[in-house]
Amino acid sequence: MEDREGQAVRVFFIPTMGALHEGHAALIRHARDRVMAMNGTPVQVVVSVFVNPTQFNDMRDFDGYPITPDADVELARAAGADSVVMPAVDEIYPSGVPATVDRVDYGSLTGTMEGAHRPGHFDGVVHVVRRLFQLVRPDVAFFGEKDWQQLAVISRLAVEEFPDLEIAPVATVREADGLAMSSRNVRLDAEHRALAVHLSRELERVARSGQPHEEAKRAMERLVSMGFEMEYLNIADGFTLEAAPWKAGEMRVFAAGSLGGVRLIDNMPFIGPAVP
Ligand code: PAF
Repeated sequence: MEDREGQAVRVFFIPTMGALHEGHAALIRHARDRVMAMNGTPVQVVVSVFVNPTQFNDMRDFDGYPITPDADVELARAAGADSVVMPAVDEIYPSGVPATVDRVDYGSLTGTMEGAHRPGHFDGVVHVVRRLFQLVRPDVAFFGEKDWQQLAVISRLAVEEFPDLEIAPVATVREADGLAMSSRNVRLDAEHRALAVHLSRELERVARSGQPHEEAKRAMERLVSMGFEMEYLNIADGFTLEAAPWKAGEMRVFAAGSLGGVRLIDNMPFIGPAVP
């Protein structure tokens, strides 16, 4: 990108689906901090807001997705964004929104966990992120570790198709009680919001356990008995997303489950003495 005088301007990019919260603000602030470290090199911090229909495998989830454009612009600017772009549907899908987009097969990165439980989800994510990268042409793009598998998929997309682009991971931001911040949290009623904290608590128990696989089974049972509709609670390598072999220092625990129809995901690294 160039400014009005033709000088090169670097672009730091935070793609979002809107309904921005503190987790997004952390991504934007992270980008801003990197700008400070650039010693005066001109950088634009660009946030995009586009609720991408093709990554929702459940249309009720899409229909209920919170849309808050004015608040999004306010939060993005307050956190340090220079501009907020809201692409029109035909900029992303010039021939209209298709029922399905091209299939993406990155092996276990797209085939396990979110990929297995949300058919087509990563096809839609890769499609929209590729298109956004083509339109915005970023030098660095920031993604939250809460969606760890998405981060792995997008890192692979960048290696294959955007070799000059750096993908910068940003740590998960949590509520005071430990619940990972998510745009979907506002849809939890008071009873489910109180229960939701147990997802991160159970992950932490597994992550601190010396017998992680046994603890993971017990954690799954406890969450189900509390009322979670669990999809998975898995231990996997953070790079390959495969369950085995165990590689010390690289394993993470991942979970997805719903409360009152609101889907929650979370993950964390092992912090205990795990020796399976
Ligand atoms: O993480 C999200 O908000 C979305 O999956 C993304 C990366 C903006 C693509 O729509």
